[in-house]
Amino acid sequence: MSLNIVIGAQWGDEGKGRIVDYLAAGADFVARYNGGDNAGHTVNVGNKIFKLHLVPSGIVHPHTTAVMGNGMVINPRTLIEEMTALRSAGVSIAPQRLHISPAAHLITPAHRALDNANEAARGKGKIGTTGRGIGPAYMDKASRRGLRMADLLAPDFRDKLRDHLLEANRTLGLLTAPELEVDAEAESYLNQTSRLALYIRDVAMELSLALKQGQSVLAEGAQGTLLDLDHGTYPFVTSSTTVASSALTGLGLGLDAARDARVMGVTKAFQTRVGSGPFPTEIKSKAAERLRGTGKNPWDEFGTTTGRPRRVGWLDGVLLRYAVRVNGLTDLIITKLDILSGMSKIKLCTGYTVNNALIHDLPGGADGISACAPDYEELPGWTEDVTHVRKWKDLPKKAQKYLERISALAETPIKLVSLGPEREQILEL
Ligand code: GDP
Ligand code: IMO
Ligand code: MG
Repeated sequence: MSLNIVIGAQWGDEGKGRIVDYLAAGADFVARYNGGDNAGHTVNVGNKIFKLHLVPSGIVHPHTTAVMGNGMVINPRTLIEEMTALRSAGVSIAPQRLHISPAAHLITPAHRALDNANEAARGKGKIGTTGRGIGPAYMDKASRRGLRMADLLAPDFRDKLRDHLLEANRTLGLLTAPELEVDAEAESYLNQTSRLALYIRDVAMELSLALKQGQSVLAEGAQGTLLDLDHGTYPFVTSSTTVASSALTGLGLGLDAARDARVMGVTKAFQTRVGSGPFPTEIKSKAAERLRGTGKNPWDEFGTTTGRPRRVGWLDGVLLRYAVRVNGLTDLIITKLDILSGMSKIKLCTGYTVNNALIHDLPGGADGISACAPDYEELPGWTEDVTHVRKWKDLPKKAQKYLERISALAETPIKLVSLGPEREQILEL
């Protein structure tokens, strides 16, 4: 059995798509298990840039089978757009190689409208969601009135959909938000969804059999540890479970599947966040502009899904240790080390001062961090361009020192260091 799980160790956008693409070369199945099109995973291959929101990033490798698990919330409209874009870019998308769980929940236009109306009603306390309807879709799931992929196949789907839209209109009315045109929305939605029926499969059974037969499954996390509904910076989180254990529930696998699993936490060499919420190591100085970039390069810190500028700061070692603990990380993967080249000094947060005491681990959960002041260690930077480095010995000594310090702080070995967005710009340790 071989299950490998790739998890965001921060607030999302760590470069999971880029890493999954790299690791998928050795995987039979690549499976998404949480979230929906709030995710934006970028894969660069040659002169092509793929921006994946729903389809697992491993699809770009022709030998893989891509799976969308029961833990996901799927907007059929965005999925079909993404399938079309992938096909035009030369990626084969067919029911033979893209399998969707019948238990995955559907996102409808009503969920999107409710997401935006809820955010508007929150005013200054808004979460800064992606507006993709994620929260309302998971709310419907938890309140046991959601629509699922399996419902697409049922003769009464049209009625269920109309009831759902009418119900949403009542809530939108209470929020004084514009209501939906039920008939028009239902017709257009039915047209889209009917095209997905062929892709529905019992993926839980398929993956469990594959693992038993010795095939390899790469689970692709969306969002990041600190956006987890339970373990993140609540309430500034997403509405799904993003930590490693949800790879099992979100794909329908048993605990035995994880016995020898590698759990790989992806972290940038610095810290970013998009949307509201606490961020102890956030900086707004010249160094921030340097970390964020201007938007000129495709990898600059502007959201893949919404285009919003990301907040930036120094790497937070306390939160990284937390991510190691709540996910059970076996390996670290560091991305964007190349961005730090040319910075004279690099700060690394190694502890927090709370009530005059220095701590290295979070006493409560991550939601307590707004009261914490970061304690920094300052390391010397390096001037060399590292984008062409492929061997540890060729990395500048100061870059090696920085990586070694991160690994020691996290008490976890580093498996890969990414030095650019391209598939081959990577260093295996
Ligand atoms: P994800 O959501 O975790 O998959 O990450 P995103 O795709 O939203 O954002 C990561 C961005 O950084 C993308 O534009 C990637 O192409 C880019 N990227 C990933 N790794 C590296 C790296 O090592 N160096 C540079 N310069 N860019 C990278
Ligand atoms: P990937 O998979 C970064 C953030 C939003 C907002 C909060 C809630 O690309 O790393 P939601 O729409 O989920 O209800 O928004 O979560 N968020 C992400 N931030 N990367 C993501 O995904 C995110 N998905 C959601 O910005 O703060
Ligand atoms: Mg992203």
